Amino acid sequence: MTEQGDSAPTAPEGVDTEKPSAARIYDWYLGGTQNWAVDREFGRRMERQWPYVKPGARHNREFMNRAVRSALGAGIRQFIDLGSGVPTAGNVHEVIAAELPDDEPAKVVYVDYEPVAVAHATVILEEEGATDWAGIIQADMRSPKTVLRAPRTRELIDFTQPVCLMLVAVLHFAGPDDDPAGIVRTYRDALAPGSRLVISHMSEGDAEPGEALDGLRWLVEQYRNTSNPMWLRDRDEIVELFGDWTLLEPGVVHLPDWRPDRRLNAVEAEARPFAWCGVAEKPA
Ligand SMILES: C[S@@+](CC[C@H](N)C(=O)[O-])C[C@H]1O[C@@H](n2cnc3c(N)ncnc32)[C@H](O)[C@@H]1O
Repeated sequence: MTEQGDSAPTAPEGVDTEKPSAARIYDWYLGGTQNWAVDREFGRRMERQWPYVKPGARHNREFMNRAVRSALGAGIRQFIDLGSGVPTAGNVHEVIAAELPDDEPAKVVYVDYEPVAVAHATVILEEEGATDWAGIIQADMRSPKTVLRAPRTRELIDFTQPVCLMLVAVLHFAGPDDDPAGIVRTYRDALAPGSRLVISHMSEGDAEPGEALDGLRWLVEQYRNTSNPMWLRDRDEIVELFGDWTLLEPGVVHLPDWRPDRRLNAVEAEARPFAWCGVAEKPA
């Protein structure tokens, strides 16, 4: 499946290559290879109108990596990654493999409803010999009970021990009718004390009125016409998703401001306002 040449890769079973999909567009933003012409065409249109899609996707991926490393540093060894996407470089199990010695086990459950994400993750986990500690289930994260009760989830996750639950760049695909606060509450309630909740979410943030904000609003309108409509939320709504869990320092901030480990270039700095993120811990 080659991205650069606009060739038509063979689609895994169940993959609709006629309509753009959020998972594959995001893969293209990150420079991945699991996308089709329809996704690239959509992605390029977004980029022309709103040049922050790629720097924003990188901010998001880097935040996710820092949050996983932080959870590992706190001793957490179980991860559930909701809306995990196409496993482009830097996915959760890769961060874990890079951080932990081979003989120190951790467990990962990936969850995505997009067939190409599931097909590709399955192949990667098999090729890497990681299937005894990492798995993927095809499910809609808006049905927490289905996710939490799935046989693969039960095989891999011990719910009496802390879990790092990740909702990274996925909740903005849940609309008001989906009751995102209720969804997240159900997940929070299922987890043991010491668990962590990692959230990132697209937003108008505190951006000044102007071209960049207009471009983002236009982009959201375009996603509304795909199979993955998008909803922006403000900071207060995102803070509420953490419920009574304890927000870890530095709280709910823009992606590159959560425990940064590098300097930003000018475009990366301009992309800063358009998402919020945070990590919270379940009190004892
Ligand atoms: C923007 S990508 C983010 C990927 C990854 N979490 C990251 O941040 O690098 C969003 C992913 O969420 C998935 N997704 C959207 N809504 C979902 C739902 N209701 N249930 C499961 N997956 C969903 C999409 O298929 C896509 O793969």
